[in-house]
Amino acid sequence: MLSQKDNELLTRVGPGTPVGELFRRFWIPALLSEELPGPDCEPVRLRLLGEDLLAFKDSDSRIAIVDAFCPHRSAPLFFGRNEEAGLRCVYHGWKFDVDGNCVDMPNCMEGPTFKDKVKLTSYPVVDRAGMIWVFMGPRDRVPPLPGFEWLEVPPDQRYVFKYQMECNYLQTLENEFDTTHSSFLHSTLDGNVNNPINKIAGQNFSNRRRMLDYSRITLVDTDFGSAMVTKQEPTPDGKDVYTLGVPFWMPSFSAAGALSAPGVFPLNLKVPMDDTHTVFFRFKWSKEPLSEKVLHEMKHGNYEFPKVFPGTYTPQANKSNDYQIDRVRQRFFNYTGIVNTPIQDFAMVENQRGPVTDRTRETLVSSDKYLIHIRRRLLEAANRLAEGEEPKEPWHPEAYRLRTRRIDVPTGTPVEKVIDALLALDPPIPAEPRPEELAAALPVLV
Ligand code: FES
Ligand SMILES: [Fe+2]
Repeated sequence: MLSQKDNELLTRVGPGTPVGELFRRFWIPALLSEELPGPDCEPVRLRLLGEDLLAFKDSDSRIAIVDAFCPHRSAPLFFGRNEEAGLRCVYHGWKFDVDGNCVDMPNCMEGPTFKDKVKLTSYPVVDRAGMIWVFMGPRDRVPPLPGFEWLEVPPDQRYVFKYQMECNYLQTLENEFDTTHSSFLHSTLDGNVNNPINKIAGQNFSNRRRMLDYSRITLVDTDFGSAMVTKQEPTPDGKDVYTLGVPFWMPSFSAAGALSAPGVFPLNLKVPMDDTHTVFFRFKWSKEPLSEKVLHEMKHGNYEFPKVFPGTYTPQANKSNDYQIDRVRQRFFNYTGIVNTPIQDFAMVENQRGPVTDRTRETLVSSDKYLIHIRRRLLEAANRLAEGEEPKEPWHPEAYRLRTRRIDVPTGTPVEKVIDALLALDPPIPAEPRPEELAAALPVLV
């Protein structure tokens, strides 16, 4: 449970709020690259961190994310003319380039230099890994991009889609670190024999005791956020085995989830649109080109990528239709009666006590340990920033390269030593974990 004060602090994301300012110290994904298909394309409305924004690509394919309203009389720039290297407001013709400079002011009698005094708010952007990333913080504190290796993989090795969610970011973010829900929410009634995720990831949802065993888990804070170190079953020759998994990358990214296919890794990026809406970028990547079959399933909807209404990012199974719950399916096949894995999550987090749930009314238990840890981490970072101490994570891009991994150590090795070894980034990261190892390190399906 949280106090009302801390709940408010953790969930408000607008300009000037502690968490809103914290998010403004990180690069965050704003929209899919495909939403701006080419030069002079139609502008796209978006809302991020409580701000109404507009994205467009100019005649030279330079990308802009700018205030949605004209600085003259606040007309909506969405209706603007995207032409000749800038966006022109259709109310009185003022024109702006991608950096927000006013380059033409045709109705102005104040002289040719008056336009130099006018600026449209614009934010730095980078197009990477199928997403357009934005930095909405102070211009003199623009950090490097996070060092995720998947930011650099070729397009045929990744796939990303996004969903708009009807709740505060923290509800869906906490779900990533709610380490016991998969055994229930995402299970089928036959011991998961017919659960496609079970088959792919080798996870055993029927073994609930393993999922609930927190005595084997140590939560660690790192240069990028937090992670979970889990003691696994020993090797046949008696060595202790540990995995590092379910990383939390500040400010709101995780790798919780099952493998979509062998060697296809998940990323979940949760970005606040405002206090009551979140955009969820669901990203998959591989070290090899994705197969036609896997790509086709992702693009056309499968258990992990629910279908949306055409031209939107709203799932067809959503809050307005109770996520298409089928009570017969619930009675005879799966735990929820809801088909898609992410939609099962949406049904829970979009329907807690309101779009900003009241955390004073919770009854948390030890299996909520990780999500409590994440709250604390965010709360501390936001409070420190409010007192003038900048977050360090954006300035450690190399730490973001961490992969889930596993090591064998002599029996009885102190866990502190194990953690040091698991987090060591130099020498380079050990070989890619085999899928079954990764599955062991990732007990949460999100
Ligand atoms: S409101 Fe945009 S030019 Fe006047
Ligand atoms: Fe989940």
